[in-house]
Formats: sequence, C-alpha cells, structure tokens
Amino acid sequence: MQLPHKHSATGTTIFTVMSALAAKYNAINLSQGFPDFPIDERLAALLHEAAAGNYNQYAPMAGLPMLREAIANDFKRRYDLQLDADKEITITPGATYGIYTAFTSFLQPGDEVIVLEPAYDSYIPNIEMNGAKAVCVPLTAPMFSVDWNKVKDAITPKTRAIIINTPHNPAGSVWSAADWQQLADLVRDTEMLIISDEVYEQLIFDGRKHYSVLEHDELRQRSFAIFSFGKVFNNTGWKMGYVIAPPLLTDAFRHIHQFIAFSINTPAQYALAQYLQQDSLPKVGALMQQKRDYFLQLLQELPFTLHHKTAGSYFQIAGYENISGLPDLEFAQWLTKEYGVATIPLSPFYCDKKDDRMIRFCFAKKESTLEAAVERMRRLNTVSKTQF
Ligand SMILES: Cc1ncc(COP(=O)(O)O)c(C=O)c1O
Repeated sequence: MQLPHKHSATGTTIFTVMSALAAKYNAINLSQGFPDFPIDERLAALLHEAAAGNYNQYAPMAGLPMLREAIANDFKRRYDLQLDADKEITITPGATYGIYTAFTSFLQPGDEVIVLEPAYDSYIPNIEMNGAKAVCVPLTAPMFSVDWNKVKDAITPKTRAIIINTPHNPAGSVWSAADWQQLADLVRDTEMLIISDEVYEQLIFDGRKHYSVLEHDELRQRSFAIFSFGKVFNNTGWKMGYVIAPPLLTDAFRHIHQFIAFSINTPAQYALAQYLQQDSLPKVGALMQQKRDYFLQLLQELPFTLHHKTAGSYFQIAGYENISGLPDLEFAQWLTKEYGVATIPLSPFYCDKKDDRMIRFCFAKKESTLEAAVERMRRLNTVSKTQF
C-alpha cells in the first residue's frame, strides 16, 4: 500500500535523530533544546496538588479560565498589554501545535508562506501539510539579520503569511522594534498574516528587550503570537503553550483546535495558573545568561569559531572549520560517536539543506554537564584537519 507524502521533509526530525544517537553512544546531549536541571519545586508541587485534588477532567476547549486570566495579568505586568482572556488567548499542547493549528486555520492549497531561514524544522512541513508552499528567504550571516529587499522580492499575490521567530532558533539573534516596523511597512497593503514564534521571549540577554509582535498595534491585528511554557519554566516535557491573537483570528484558530486537540491537560493548566500568580518567579533570562557566559568561557579552550555571541534563546552556533572539513551532519555524528558530545548540524534548518559548516550547542544545562562536555571535546585541540 502506498500512502501519500504530506510534506517534503524526508526521514525523522534531526532532533530525534541526534538525541537517539546521543543515547546510543552515551554522549552528553547538547543537541535537542531542553534543560537537564529540575523545574522549580513549587511548580512540581502544584501539579501534584492539581492531580490529588479535583483537576482531572476535560478543561474547557479554549483553556482553563484561571490560566487564561493569569496569562493576561502576566502580559499586563511584563508588557503593559491589555489582553482579553476570553477572546484572545487559547491554551495549546505546546508551541509546535500552536504553529500548526494557526497555519491550518487560514491556509488554502496554493497559498505561499515566507519562511526566514535557517528556521525551526516544523515550519515548512506544517505549511506543506496544508497544501501551501514555503518560500524561503535567507537571513544574512553572521548576525542572521533580515535582508528586507529579499523579503519584499519574495512577496507575490499568493503570499498569505510570513513566519517570524525571535529570539531565534538556531541563530540566537533577536528582532529590534525597527525590524517590526519594517515588516509593518511591507505588509500594510497586503492580506498577509503573521505567525510570530516567540517561545524564547524571556531568554534574552545583556539588558536587551524582547519586542513582541503584540506590542505593535498595527501588526497585532493580523498576528498569531505563539508561546511555550516549556521554554520559560524549563518543563518542555509538559508540552504546554498558548496562542494570542485578535478575536477574529482566535475564532478561526479555535474552529480548528476544537477538532484536533479539543482540550488540554487539566492538571498542568491548573499548576501553571497558580504558578503564574506567585510573587517571585525565577529570573529565567538571568539564569540562562549565566549559563551562556559560562559555556562561552569554556568554549574558548576549544578550536570552534564563534561568529557572534547569542543574544537570546538557549543556543549557541559555532563553526568547526579549524577542526574538520566534513559536512555538518557527518561532523555532528562524528563528534557524538568519537567524542561523546551530541550537537545539532545547521543544514536541516535550511530549505535546500545549505551547509555552512556550523553546529548548534544547547547550553540550557547544569554547569557540570557543560564542563563535562567541554572536557570530552578538549582532545579536539590535537585533531589535525588533514585527517578528513
Ligand atoms: C523556535 C521554536 N518554536 C517552537 C518550539 C516548540 O515548542 P514546544 O515544545 O512548546 O512545542 C521550539 C522548540 O525547540 C522552538 O525552538
């Protein structure tokens, strides 16, 4: 029996591939983006409290009202934004689902969506599963900034949306207010919608500010903003997130959502609602900045090339041209097998699998994990490039 291919990606996502390889070779896993340290014990206790109490049945389709209210209050406090918890916030089983469902709520076969690459690897399959086409526009290395002329050239009468990611995975770059203004000028006379993937919004460093699409009054009217609790509360395995969009777009989103997930994990929603109302939540950005700084200091002892210091997210990309001439996937596999450290090659983040000979490290790890990984890679200093 032949089943149709619903998207152009082949094989299994690189995150699963590299994590499986890490497990096989007992490697330290700096590949997939998840922390290896425990979550705040208050959050764990709240989950227990929910399950032990009476929070075990289906939640309302849009999410528990107390969680949506808590998110609205959080955005008032952190961004001074007024959100309507009933009409603008929907709880989702993670951000990946939020992105897919947002696309599904408006894309038609034949539509085009602009993807700035390198890009998180679910975007293009999600677009294609809806019969639409991804139009890839490269970001400009080494800072991975947007070339606005290229974006302008990519817009056609078929362009229905653009997907933005700030802070950016894998590049660690962040958008300024001026970037959003450039985008507003470009889309003003079009029917384009915006998917703004802001899952790393709180992981932003060196005193920078995260600019959310929701802060841009004009763009907000045509945007789905996507968030993930997993990335900010270090509980990626809970797969909990939310989507904020104006009422018309939220209606369209829920029209689809009600028939694919319908209702999201109730005890987790209860725990997150109570947790968001706590007075002193951990400063996740400061914690992650410390980890970035520590990791960069350790990396100085190794022959990787750092083109820029990551400004947000929990990833650092590095060149390995002083070590090897292997293609990036082979290099990442070799590093896992021979040195016991798993990373992610960058080529799977490109439409045409462009190979910049770079890998991505995830530094959301205990200091001891980062130290052990660098210790294992110390031998790289003696590797001669001529071996390859
Ligand atoms: C840019 C980006 N968007 C979305 C996600 C997925 O978030 P979630 O685990 O909440 O689905 C990730 C996870 O790595 C990511 O890096």
